[in-house]
Amino acid sequence: MYRSIARTTAAAAAHQRRFLRHASAAAGRRRAPPSAFPVLDLPLRDIHKHVYDANLRNSNDCHEKYLELNEKVTKGGGERAVARHTRRNGKLLAKDRLRLLLDDDDFLELSRFAGLGLPYGDIPSAGCLTGVGRINGLWCAFIANDATVKGGTAYPITVKKQLRAQEVAIHNRLPCVYLVDSGGAFLPLQSEIFPDKNQGGRTFYNEAIMSAMKIPQVSVVCGSCTAGGAYIPTMAEEAVMVHRIGTMFLGGPPLVKAATGEEVTPEELGGARLHAEASGCVDHFAREEEEAFACARNVISTLNFALPEDVDEDEETTRKRKEDEKPLYGSEELLGLAPKSYNYSLDVKMVISRLADGSRFQEFKALFGTTLITGFAKICGHLVGIVANNGELSYPAALKGSHFVQLCDQRDIPLLFLQNTAPSAACTRSVAQAEMNSNRLKAQGSMMSAVACASVPKITVVIGGCHGADSYAMCGRSFDPNFLFLWPNARVSVTAAGHVGSLLHPDTAELPQEEEDRNKMEHDLNRTLEKESSAFFSSARLWDDGVILPQDTRRVLRDCLEIIKQQQYQLSTHKLQSALLRI
Ligand code: COA
Repeated sequence: MYRSIARTTAAAAAHQRRFLRHASAAAGRRRAPPSAFPVLDLPLRDIHKHVYDANLRNSNDCHEKYLELNEKVTKGGGERAVARHTRRNGKLLAKDRLRLLLDDDDFLELSRFAGLGLPYGDIPSAGCLTGVGRINGLWCAFIANDATVKGGTAYPITVKKQLRAQEVAIHNRLPCVYLVDSGGAFLPLQSEIFPDKNQGGRTFYNEAIMSAMKIPQVSVVCGSCTAGGAYIPTMAEEAVMVHRIGTMFLGGPPLVKAATGEEVTPEELGGARLHAEASGCVDHFAREEEEAFACARNVISTLNFALPEDVDEDEETTRKRKEDEKPLYGSEELLGLAPKSYNYSLDVKMVISRLADGSRFQEFKALFGTTLITGFAKICGHLVGIVANNGELSYPAALKGSHFVQLCDQRDIPLLFLQNTAPSAACTRSVAQAEMNSNRLKAQGSMMSAVACASVPKITVVIGGCHGADSYAMCGRSFDPNFLFLWPNARVSVTAAGHVGSLLHPDTAELPQEEEDRNKMEHDLNRTLEKESSAFFSSARLWDDGVILPQDTRRVLRDCLEIIKQQQYQLSTHKLQSALLRI
């Protein structure tokens, strides 16, 4: 009898297995119905013309500035330094090295304008190129020193840029590749590079932590690696070193001479042969740079990281198909929608309709808190939850924002914030206003909590103003978005220029008594704000991940969403593996 029960149970299990196989095969055959989100049919109309044209003129001016800075950073450390680097030292330029390392030129560069116009001078691209690019199809973060900028030495801004690139790698679980060609700390500014928590040593700490998190660390020594620079390859999991070009030591030949009187060449002291054969500090010896980058690409192939196509080919094909579904309107129109100031903001749904696939948008709470627009769209096939300012972040708008952010968190949908916040804080001139502002305060606090605690990836694009506390609720830099970009017209400051007057309380002790002096003070403060709030001022200081052109936004978002998605594949594979282990 027991045998017969066992037989019956086995037969039932076999039947269930057959049923499940059949059901999953049928599900595989079934195509998901195409998204039928409503179309945002929002063409430009005559009524928009005045504002649109003014914005366009401003965008064109910003574009000129963008091109000017771009040309400046393209030259790196200047003609003389480039000649010294390529002819005398026989090395490739950082951008040519990236060409050899990455699959193609289509990579996401981060903070290209970092380092320009700082109190200690212009440091083109902060002395290193960073970003995310594909190696054998896998998105990887890279940090490449530019030795044409003061021998690739690390300025405070260089350290900040490197740390941000590592942070991007951590947030998005990206393998990290270092192309090291650096003279170590820029000594005249050592006090701003060495001692503090988020300074030089943090790079090495991060390498260790990332390795522990199973985020691979790979290094190519393609120049000098002096002092601190020497720890980057030695702490990497795998390092490649180029013969006669790479050198690695704590103190160079001049130091040896000073200490011992001995004359020694850099190659003898810490060349590729020595480190590959004797010290074991590197794992691969390359005769030339081309060979080193080919080797680094092979190292990436051994990481055993899953690619989207390995995991779900069908979904990938669907995504590529969807990518063709362009918005109904040309991306160039975004130039006239990029507000030259807050008063020149047009309906933000016009921006969404020029970013979303097929201009389709499934709006959430369309009739409530209308100064914040929330809803779902696809960008190049990727589903995102969009949170976009369309006026002041009022009490109902902030409530709606919290609700929507929590919804996306619940559903594992990445969030995209389109930020254009009010130029100054709300005034309180009556009891009614005081009550309204207190309610708003509480609701904004809730939205900040929702944004801070949402565990889904977040991308922020500042399309206009980034001012005051509203910008925190809209996932500003301190709220740790995976990526944060600015349009060239963007303004970043606690309050916008021209709005200082309302903040200067007449009873403030520091205020001059004479009206004329007060006006001058206000004028000067507004001028400072004007200068310090420009997108380029912000990007030079790495308060963001770079200035992007409005017409490139869809492409940048596509890259970010693909990068973010790759992480899901790693996590799902890990989850899958541990689930299998438990079976
Ligand atoms: N701090 C400040 N400036 C430095 C520097 C450092 N650590 N290392 C190099 N520089 C400057 C040089 O003065 C030079 O400036 P200039 O263009 O205004 O003349 C520029 O960087 C390029 O250096 P140079 O030596 O001409 O170029 P190179 O390609 O022949 O050599 C290095 C580059 C980095 C290998 C070499 O300069 C070097 O060994 N520097 C010392 C590195 C060191 O000991 N670092 C210790 C840091 S704790």
